[in-house]
Amino acid sequence: MERLQKVLAQAGVASRRKCEEYITAGRVEVNDVVVTNLGVKVDPQQDEIKVDGRAINLQKKIYLLFNKPKGVITSVKDPKGRKVVTDYLTNIKERVYPVGRLDYDTEGLLLLTNDGEFANLLTHPKYHLPRTYLATVKGVPHGTVLEKLQNGIELEDGLTAPAEVEYYDMDPDKKQTVISITIYEGRNRQVRRMFEAVHFPVLKLKRVQFGSISLSGLPRGKYRVLDKQEVDALIAAALRSHNVQNSK
Ligand code: URA
Repeated sequence: MERLQKVLAQAGVASRRKCEEYITAGRVEVNDVVVTNLGVKVDPQQDEIKVDGRAINLQKKIYLLFNKPKGVITSVKDPKGRKVVTDYLTNIKERVYPVGRLDYDTEGLLLLTNDGEFANLLTHPKYHLPRTYLATVKGVPHGTVLEKLQNGIELEDGLTAPAEVEYYDMDPDKKQTVISITIYEGRNRQVRRMFEAVHFPVLKLKRVQFGSISLSGLPRGKYRVLDKQEVDALIAAALRSHNVQNSK
């Protein structure tokens, strides 16, 4: 048996705090009885739970690692009919959705789940999980440019937090450089905007790591199910990242 607000949040209805508001506002029914008490416990396998009269889906939780190709929308549907990430999930019955997003032109590691609480935890700005990207830029940026990216760049939405930045690979003729950059925030188009600010626009961007999960060996356009240990490690790392930040 679990608390009603926890079950609702895990089902992706909303954050736990919002679900508590729904309960106290009388919007939630358990087995056709309105429940307004936050202490109530339910059995997700047995009890029928409704929000605003609509039954909620208490499906089994599933967590996927996907290698997103470029030219695919990080969404479950696109009004313009372009390819979306869920088009690639051929054997998945559960209704999963992306954890955060990658730009249309960015490829690489994307997590998907039907666990709303997990998705919230990993993407909430108060947690600071590292995300590592390989950014290909034209030419060879000087070490001082990498230092600037590392120390923080003033963007229109504020200074970026310290990052880890290093050379990863270089053309023999020095036409392009691949730079590995690890950031601890998930702002919109952040890596592209950071490189634009130092006048080295990104030609190609790939996310290769998110917290403890790496893309290693997963072919482009393919997915795999994360096991319990991998999911637990991500949750633990997110919670730790909050404590670390607070103790600074
Ligand atoms: N930063 C970007 O610029 N784009 C992404 O898709 C992810 C991070």
